[in-house]
Amino acid sequence: MNIRNFLSERLRAAMHTAGVPDDCPPLVTQSTKPQFGDYQANGAMGAAKRLRTNPRQLAQATVAALDLGDAIEKAEIAGPGFINIHLSPAWLGDRLTAVIDDPRLGIARADPGQTVIVDYSSPNLAKEMHVGHLRSTIIGDALARLLEHLGQRVIRQNHVGDWGTQFGMLLAHLEDRETETAADAALADLETFYREAKARFDDEPGFADRARDYVVRLQSGDARCLALWNEFIDISIHHSEAIYARLNVTLARADIRAESAYNDDLPKIIAELQHQGLAVEDQGAQVVFLDELADKEGKPQPVIVQKSGGGFLYATSDLAALRYRCHDLDAARILYFIDARQSLHMQQVFAVGRRAGFATPEVSLEHHPFGTMMGEDGKPFKTRTGGTVKLAELLDEAITRAAQLIAEKDPELSAEEREAVARKVGIGAVKYADLSRTRTSDYIFSWESMLSFEGNTAPYLQYAYSRIRSIFRKAGIDPATLHGPVVIDTPQEKALALHLLRFGEVLDQVASDAYPHQLCTFLYELASLYMAFYEGCPVLKAENEALRTSRLRMCDGVARTLATGLDLLGIEVMERM
Ligand code: ARG
Repeated sequence: MNIRNFLSERLRAAMHTAGVPDDCPPLVTQSTKPQFGDYQANGAMGAAKRLRTNPRQLAQATVAALDLGDAIEKAEIAGPGFINIHLSPAWLGDRLTAVIDDPRLGIARADPGQTVIVDYSSPNLAKEMHVGHLRSTIIGDALARLLEHLGQRVIRQNHVGDWGTQFGMLLAHLEDRETETAADAALADLETFYREAKARFDDEPGFADRARDYVVRLQSGDARCLALWNEFIDISIHHSEAIYARLNVTLARADIRAESAYNDDLPKIIAELQHQGLAVEDQGAQVVFLDELADKEGKPQPVIVQKSGGGFLYATSDLAALRYRCHDLDAARILYFIDARQSLHMQQVFAVGRRAGFATPEVSLEHHPFGTMMGEDGKPFKTRTGGTVKLAELLDEAITRAAQLIAEKDPELSAEEREAVARKVGIGAVKYADLSRTRTSDYIFSWESMLSFEGNTAPYLQYAYSRIRSIFRKAGIDPATLHGPVVIDTPQEKALALHLLRFGEVLDQVASDAYPHQLCTFLYELASLYMAFYEGCPVLKAENEALRTSRLRMCDGVARTLATGLDLLGIEVMERM
């Protein structure tokens, strides 16, 4: 159990003894300054108000009843009734020893785990992946990794868009191009291919009709059309897979459940909605009117589930996916990592899905939206000429820039090593710059700040890790062979120990709210506290053998926590850089 929960539980019991009703929370937080103790409990004021008594006296009665065993050094009452708790260094040392002894760093595994579906990346396969897909891909992957680490049964769902009218145009174009070249050559650059097809669709007489004809043939299962379509989709998926591999993203082919996978379900979804009296005809279309999403005048909001021509919509496939995830995959939570601009769409899907019973009553449906990636001019990120930036090109640039930086910093690395380091640093920098910002805000993409070795960046954390590893390498010590207790001797060690012991609490927080920046902040603070420790406390030259072992073990705990935390964010570390 984490320290905060432990203290909350004990304080709750003490407050109970002091006559406080059980629904008054003890409000335990970490103290902001060492003179206020390590943790503080601020619940006495609220409780005293309820009981109409003096808060300081209530705090005193609480402290008198408080049983923290050997965890506590002292508890003090400050101001109107804050309880400042100073934890015992010996107790902290014992707990930290146990954490460092544990290969999982004290992080428990849920048993049994929950089934959690994570819907992320989900690009549209008609085009190549561009920067607009970056956020969903890396934030979703961080959550999938983290939940898995905590023992949840994670099912990744890459809900790629592989169906719809634009495929008619692409297939018609592919059919013509294939007479000249092989499909994979024609589709080597999907972006150009899409632009060519679109230009023909807009300008070439007869082409638009052919494209529409292809859509109809595709939908009716025409073999030639399906073969072309399969060819196209397959190549497009290969493009995405190349990106995932470079990004160190865990999505595999088996995680793809494309929109088209739900094609056969769509008429059934409509029939079910009609049967329940939820979908009604409106100007030839099938529409569900939602009272829960009424406009200002109280008019229920219409959600179209089938167009007047019979065609289905993005929302229809999402309803089918929701039903599949709840009823076939038996999800307890479904997390959607999709741009904030689709918030209304998600609300509609959730509302219709709940009403129709496609979602089970217990399932937690969570849209975790994110803001837009901006250029340094404060406008959505674009190429110089105003086009969309291909993800592949962005990643190339990240690696090239990192390679230059590394060559300057450490000219002794071999070319081979430099290449590996540049990939980890460049990709890590791009991912961390995104993950370290509050998910819901827009952020400015800046090469300079993300690749800086100072501040809250991936290179700073990766460097902190490599530096610790080099201590062990230079001293010829394998940390796995070190045994013995971790002792808390100095204020720097105490601050570092308290922070290391919070790792589990932070992971739990991110698992429930899906804000990965909280983990980034934790890691950044960890590296900073480590630097202060390293400056203030001699490690290899410690006064005696026991202290030297203790401090080396502390270094090892920091290194492993950094590596684990970064790995959960999908960022790699290296032994030297
Ligand atoms: N393909 C969609 C897009 O590019 C994103 C899909 C997100 N997932 C979902 N279940 N709707 O905008």
